[in-house]
Amino acid sequence: MKLKTELPSPGWRGVGGEEVSELSETGMKQATEINGDDSSAPPLTPGSSPRRERGDRAESAPDALDGLGDAMARATQDLPLVRIGGRVSAVTPAFYRVGGLSPFLKLGERVVLPANGDARPQIGEVVRIDAGGATVKPFEGAIDARLGAEVHRMEAVSLHPHAGWRGRVLDALGKPIDDGGALPLGERRVFPFAEPPPAMHRARVGAHIRTGVRMVDLFTPLCAGQRIGIFAGSGVGKSTMLSMLAGAEGFDTVVIALVGERGREVREFLEETLGEARSKAVMVVSTGDESPMMRRLAPNTAMAIAEYFRDRGEKVLMIVDSVTRYAHAARDVALAAGEPAVSRGFPPSVFSDLPRLLERAGPGCEGAGTITGLFSVLVDGDDHNDPVADNIRGTLDGHIVLDRTIADRGRFPAMDPLGSISRLARKVWSAEEQGVVRRFLALVARFEETRDLRLMGGYQPGHDADLDQAVTIVPRLYDALRQDPSSPRSRDPFREIAGMLQNG
Ligand SMILES: Nc1ncnc2c1ncn2[C@@H]1O[C@H](COP(=O)(O)OP(=O)(O)OP(=O)(O)O)[C@@H](O)[C@H]1O
Ligand SMILES: [Mg+2]
Repeated sequence: MKLKTELPSPGWRGVGGEEVSELSETGMKQATEINGDDSSAPPLTPGSSPRRERGDRAESAPDALDGLGDAMARATQDLPLVRIGGRVSAVTPAFYRVGGLSPFLKLGERVVLPANGDARPQIGEVVRIDAGGATVKPFEGAIDARLGAEVHRMEAVSLHPHAGWRGRVLDALGKPIDDGGALPLGERRVFPFAEPPPAMHRARVGAHIRTGVRMVDLFTPLCAGQRIGIFAGSGVGKSTMLSMLAGAEGFDTVVIALVGERGREVREFLEETLGEARSKAVMVVSTGDESPMMRRLAPNTAMAIAEYFRDRGEKVLMIVDSVTRYAHAARDVALAAGEPAVSRGFPPSVFSDLPRLLERAGPGCEGAGTITGLFSVLVDGDDHNDPVADNIRGTLDGHIVLDRTIADRGRFPAMDPLGSISRLARKVWSAEEQGVVRRFLALVARFEETRDLRLMGGYQPGHDADLDQAVTIVPRLYDALRQDPSSPRSRDPFREIAGMLQNG
């Protein structure tokens, strides 16, 4: 039997007495489709569905009642019985102001402009509160407010993640945007803008994880719970590198936030690049044409989902492509909230928003799982010292630098081993491996610093044994390190490189 259930809409009245009947937001009106055989079962709400996570046993009557009670409690959490309203007092292309609500609002809460004629209800977030009113930026669509229109208060965005979200694609608000139908909802309610676990209660970074990408495993090895950035100018291979890393074995769930990507790239990433990893990946997508509110929310929503899987004890891989576009969205919101721009056009709150997001990746509290974070960072005009890149680099436990000159020579991944570091590499390498890596890096450095000299014909073999060795080995090493998304994954990079150098 296919059963469609909906929670009754209580039909509250706004300040002006009109009824807000249709709100599509999760939690305002929840509907789900459940496939089951028992037509006599009580009406099921999302959390009490047979797919809910409290064990697999068949539901006895008290269980079903408990489930119904839980679901009602959850639903009413989202549905206040008294609605507080204010009125629009100013409208600009970037935000609108609401009077009369300020004493009742907190930053980060939402308000809704009720449906008006053909226009759907428009939900926005409170980004500034002062004595004169509150500043609101809508999540979706152009500003649709009229002066004097009523605005009602809602709670902050929240989600009910569920293991069945793997393989699904969501928007920043947690609504499905693929063809997979309604999302199963879990028991726990989480908020996108959560705090990182307290530093002293966090477990230590976990064991080494092989990614299968030879250059990364060799020069910047990753540990479970590590946070690493991929820094590069545009079009140098950040997204390709991330998609190769998304396929790493050893992670239970991969959560991917695509922020500010081109719409075309999202489908490409999903259908071609992600490959087998897709079935264990939850994707949260906010494309470049969506509002800054959605782009700012998307990585936080994804992080809340990653935290849910981490708290189930899983090894989670969290990917954000790109953090820079998240920073741009946070800048737009902060400027609309009236903050001054202090550092190359960025208001100060951006530099606290960034570490707050990145710090949430890492190991959980003792006994929980880990979130390994991979964050792509677009460096403006290949300037690796711009303030956003600098701030992010300082927060992370390592960085992989992709270099345009290497990409221009057609060598991919275009990773610069000399500029890339993993702060946890020493935990991973054996003494012997560390010696090999040091030797490789010394040879690469020698080879690169003499590149111009050699091109001008100033190199004669036989005068400098180190340089002779670099000239023989480094081009073969570079060849051995080439890898594209369709190449086989690397199993043991040290052995493979040794084999290729001997055979070459
Ligand atoms: N490992 C690789 N093997 C082969 N080609 C690659 C590889 N990585 C990147 N490329 C090439 O570089 C191009 C750009 O890569 P990608 O889209 O990953 O860059 P990006 O840094 O994410 O770009 P943007 O800044 O526009 O998001 C790809 O279309 C592909 O041609
Ligand atoms: Mg990209």
